[in-house]
Amino acid sequence: MYTELIDLTTISEEEREQTMNRAGEIIRAGGLVAFPTETVYGLGADGMNPDASARIYEAKGRPSDNPLIMHIVDTAQVEEIAAEVSPDAGKIMDAFWPGPLTVILPRKRTVPSTTTGGLDTVAIRMPSHPDAREFIRRSGRIIAAPSANISGRPSPTRAVHVYEDMKGRIPMILDGGPVGIGIESTIVDMTGDHPIILRPGYISLEEITDLVGEAEIDPAIAGRTPAKDLVAKAPGMKYRHYAPKGQMILVEGETARVVKKINELTVLRQAEGFTVGIIGTEETLSLYPEGIAKSVGSREQPQTIAANLYRVLREMDASGADYIYAESFFDEKLGDAIMNRMLKAAGYRVISCRR
Ligand code: TXA
Ligand code: MG
Repeated sequence: MYTELIDLTTISEEEREQTMNRAGEIIRAGGLVAFPTETVYGLGADGMNPDASARIYEAKGRPSDNPLIMHIVDTAQVEEIAAEVSPDAGKIMDAFWPGPLTVILPRKRTVPSTTTGGLDTVAIRMPSHPDAREFIRRSGRIIAAPSANISGRPSPTRAVHVYEDMKGRIPMILDGGPVGIGIESTIVDMTGDHPIILRPGYISLEEITDLVGEAEIDPAIAGRTPAKDLVAKAPGMKYRHYAPKGQMILVEGETARVVKKINELTVLRQAEGFTVGIIGTEETLSLYPEGIAKSVGSREQPQTIAANLYRVLREMDASGADYIYAESFFDEKLGDAIMNRMLKAAGYRVISCRR
């Protein structure tokens, strides 16, 4: 299959019009279109068409028990797929939509089980990215969309990442430039008596608690080590995710000690003949004389770390690093969301320099 990559940032209004029309046609015919959102790029299909959503699993190589998020542009669409919206769920949607937050609600029977992975609930999100909104509106459908990566690869934050993974597998990629946030939406389960965060994201636990009172992070994903006896409520959180090819190890503690430790380990591994990658920050990059060191952003602006993380992980793969030593960001703002992804990428391997 030929994969068309269309740069929405440079084309004329007329070309944009034609492109959005064609994207809508592909969707209505049961096909796949990748599109930008404010979090990561999505791989979209008609969420109410079981054959179309089945194609998503095929293109991604994703286990079919892992449900998809339904993307909408208008709150009226919630009624088409959710059986019930509690007052707190309504408040959360009003406060954070459009934006990087997904709510889990009881589903209507009309939602195909290929979309919901056989669950009684449905995940719904209203993205804020203007290209995503136009694409969904013009398709006239509710768009089921996972992140547009091959299963097990970092989520795409640029169209070129989608192209790397999806070339030959889908007919169209809409390029809206690099995304703003860079990590996937916060998922909050609103089917119980209080909100439970199933996946941390840009919208924090504190923001949700401030709005509706008591809320918690799913205990199965909250810790620094994998929970042994608990099963994550979001099926996708149980899979090994975001994994670079090299062995990634997080180093945590006071920054000066972390830098020293990473330098020691790098010299050691290089002496053994291995290629070593280092994930540092603007503040520390010049302190790593050895290895392939890259900055993931600035500790002063943690949102830059979220925005660059997946790109840097892909670059580490491309550099052929056998070992990847990464600084950690447990104590920064957005730390829950960033470290959730980094711990998974590292298979929960953490070296502590604290005493
Ligand atoms: O930011 C995002 O949410 C991006 C963009 C494209 O919108 N999408 C995304 O989709 O990250 P995906 O498929 O990569 O992750 C969806 C997560 C999975 O962990 C899945 O198990 C969970 O949402 N999920 C979907 N439906 C669910 C449900 N009914 N109950 C619990 N978890 C659900
Ligand atoms: Mg994903």
